[in-house]
Amino acid sequence: MNSASSIFDVAGRVACVTGASSGLGRRAATALAQAGASVVGVARRAADLEDWQNETTGSTACVSADLSDRAGLPDIVDQITAPFGSPNILVHAAGINTREAADKVTLEGWDITLALNLSVPFFLSQALVPAMKEKGWGRIVNFASLQTTRAFPGGIAYGATKGGVGQMTRAMAEAWSSSGINTNAIGPGFFPTELTAAVFGDDERAARNAAQTCIGRNGRLEDIDGPLLFLCSPASDYVTGQILMVDGGFTAK
Ligand SMILES: NC(=O)c1ccc[n+]([C@@H]2O[C@H](COP(=O)([O-])OP(=O)(O)OC[C@H]3O[C@@H](n4cnc5c(N)ncnc54)[C@H](OP(=O)(O)O)[C@@H]3O)[C@@H](O)[C@H]2O)c1
Repeated sequence: MNSASSIFDVAGRVACVTGASSGLGRRAATALAQAGASVVGVARRAADLEDWQNETTGSTACVSADLSDRAGLPDIVDQITAPFGSPNILVHAAGINTREAADKVTLEGWDITLALNLSVPFFLSQALVPAMKEKGWGRIVNFASLQTTRAFPGGIAYGATKGGVGQMTRAMAEAWSSSGINTNAIGPGFFPTELTAAVFGDDERAARNAAQTCIGRNGRLEDIDGPLLFLCSPASDYVTGQILMVDGGFTAK
């Protein structure tokens, strides 16, 4: 039987984390690097990626790119693969929330939300899965949301993509798990990041969200570490197609 520490081991794995310049993606990239994986962080802001690299011990590399640029995807894939070879752990944390009310949703807002939150995780995975198949092992972690199953004001485009992420996670699991590639999603509650600046800028709203959890507080970035390492390691060998809500019990009440 594996020891408790070795089943969570990601040492020697190659991970790609999108959204590594900020928030949960940055935290995920750090957690994987500290646990011994070689990590390629992807986002647009080169300076923030460089900051992340400077503050992170371990084997790291960065790709500064706009993931919503469909035509650029093959080049981005080459850049991701260059430093350490093709990743066998893929964490899709890049995402946006335009917060447009249903009556005011613009085509631009709708299209960029669908592109980044839904199309990118699919097509980047599709591009990197063949190498995972060759190795017979892979892990894909998508980012779902409370809005995977709940409707919030101003969340129609975002919620549509996060509902989609839930179903895409199951469909990816159906397609690739028999090749050793498990796909799951983390469904965060409320975590203080750039994405949720509007939520945490309103103390009353933040307190209401905290009160809605069973635990009685909003998320801290480090709350993501354990669930992430579980889903990226052999500890989750028989777990696929699932959404692990990391929400302090928000959806339990
Ligand atoms: N925070 C929460 O409470 C919460 C709750 C539920 C779900 N989530 C999900 O968790 C994930 C991470 O969110 P977060 O809160 O950490 O958000 P965040 O702090 O705003 O980070 C978003 C990341 O996405 C990257 N990104 C945005 N547009 C991009 C583009 N066109 N190309 C490449 N990268 C791009 C950003 O980097 P650049 O700007 O440098 O490109 C940034 O690194 C998202 O999928 C979000 O939906 C978050």
